[in-house]
Amino acid sequence: MIAAPNMPPMDLGAKASIRSHYDLATPFYRLLWGPHIHHGLWSAEDAVRERPHASPLAAQEALTDALATLANIQRGQHVLDVGCGMGGSSIRLARQRHCEVTGITLSGVQRRWASMAAWRNGVTNAVRFRQADAERVMFEAASFDVVWSIECTEHLFDKAAFFRRAADWLRPGGRIAICAWLAAEDADRPGQREQVEAVCDSFLCPSLGSFSDYTGWMTAAGLRVEHTEDWTARVTRTWELCDERVRRFGLPWLARLIDGRQATFLDNFKTLLDAYRSGAMQYGCIVARRPETTA
Ligand SMILES: C[S@@+](CC[C@H](N)C(=O)[O-])C[C@H]1O[C@@H](n2cnc3c(N)ncnc32)[C@H](O)[C@@H]1O
Repeated sequence: MIAAPNMPPMDLGAKASIRSHYDLATPFYRLLWGPHIHHGLWSAEDAVRERPHASPLAAQEALTDALATLANIQRGQHVLDVGCGMGGSSIRLARQRHCEVTGITLSGVQRRWASMAAWRNGVTNAVRFRQADAERVMFEAASFDVVWSIECTEHLFDKAAFFRRAADWLRPGGRIAICAWLAAEDADRPGQREQVEAVCDSFLCPSLGSFSDYTGWMTAAGLRVEHTEDWTARVTRTWELCDERVRRFGLPWLARLIDGRQATFLDNFKTLLDAYRSGAMQYGCIVARRPETTA
């Protein structure tokens, strides 16, 4: 695991910075990228085409759908969407897989946004959103079939503790399904650690774990890892497109006008792109199951 050098340990100030980042940046993410605040997943062929066939929105939906398939999400199941953003995954799971979804986010702006989006999409009977910190919120034991989290665990301070709590929220046979920005297994190589640290600092991540860190945390929480997939090559185009759109729309200028301290992420898409290209970072998904019976 590689930690952010300039981020304080878990304290209210650090959490407040993450919250205000999403309170402020959500309209920019929506303008720039659409209703999902996560990478797009292009097919292996599209990933190397100069002009991909799939649009960014189709690629974002493809990522959500690929994770839902790996997690085997079925009609009527109850899903907890941890770090639900504008409700993109929750609403898609409710519409496509006919699930009941509870979404939590640190950001009050996102909670209201997601609730409006659910209303516009006609799924208010199936989804609900709460403003809550995933590291403190309480749910009853065994109350979800799936704990789902796309690109939120990067922001957690004690990731091992989160997986212990999430395992408890799962029914026997339930799955945890995540997508995450990852430090490469050997990101300690000279030059690469600095790239990962720069990403942590720019994007308010207390640390980035590697595939083996995540599978270790899940296994220690009593879960059985069923799938790990490295999607780095298929998602990298996301940042080329975002960087290009930021410049085209003049967003840094607009964001600085609103709040200069919160606008720096718009300048740092290149930092992420460089870390993927150098091999310092990976992007992947992991699905793990709570066994039906404890050994
Ligand atoms: C990159 S966005 C991903 C949003 C959403 N999963 C999606 O794919 O569109 C990260 C999300 O994690 C949430 N988040 C960060 N730290 C959190 C915490 N401690 N508790 C709950 N949500 C958190 C943010 O509010 C934001 O919604």
